[in-house]
Amino acid sequence: RFAAALAGPLESVSSGDIMRRPLVAGNWKMNGTVTSVDALVTGLVSADSPSCELLVCPPSVFLAQVRAGLSVAGHEEEIGLGAQDVSQHESGAFTGENSADMLVEFGCRYVLIGHSERRQYHGESDEAVAAKVERCLAVGLRPIVCIGETLEQRRNGSMLAIIAQQLGALAQTVAREDWGRFDIAYEPVWAIGTGESASPEQAQEVHAMVRSTITDHGDSEDCTRILYGGSVNDDNAKALFEMADIDGALVGGASLNVQSFISIAESAG
Ligand code: PGA
Repeated sequence: RFAAALAGPLESVSSGDIMRRPLVAGNWKMNGTVTSVDALVTGLVSADSPSCELLVCPPSVFLAQVRAGLSVAGHEEEIGLGAQDVSQHESGAFTGENSADMLVEFGCRYVLIGHSERRQYHGESDEAVAAKVERCLAVGLRPIVCIGETLEQRRNGSMLAIIAQQLGALAQTVAREDWGRFDIAYEPVWAIGTGESASPEQAQEVHAMVRSTITDHGDSEDCTRILYGGSVNDDNAKALFEMADIDGALVGGASLNVQSFISIAESAG
């Protein structure tokens, strides 16, 4: 039961035969209390492990509690720990921030970077996102880089140009050989927290474009997973995962409910 879970993203790849191990990640955002986090972790470690890779990204103030809960239950290998943001700087006078080194030392495997809420409310530019990615790669932390268009951009036909621009900033800073060392989450802004997921076909159109961009810029497209995020739930997950270029999900609201999160993970296979 644990063998598949122990394999990281790279172990699943066999050359010439694309096998990107699906990843289902929970973005808890700024939710939870000590009590509710305990209940969530207890629920997660009691559930049967799905064969996909599982990741939880709690608010940083709860990282220690989640890590402790997972390790007491012996699940720290099976359920990865990630942060929701990271500083682009190495260390120093950056009040309120956590460095990539700190997250690695603490035991985080992943970090979300450039979530649309960070871009919208904290003014994170594509360049800042790329700088954060670079910092993480320097210390061996695997970023999940969030990209996506607004409703207005989709309506005015600039969707693919926006996605290309967001990925283009990465291409400026990330070396060719490092393109297999992060994952991407396509999250259309209009689908986040709205209950209105992109249809599998709408998501696949963008994922296919992202896949070909990865192939253009990097040497290792087989290692970069492209997750879909935006109102994923246990009803719509299966159809999304059936698309050729959807390698998992970044789940917000539904990740706060153990049954929903596990059921989404089960449909990822
Ligand atoms: P949602 O959030 O699943 O609640 O739409 C997804 C996200 O923002 O990562």
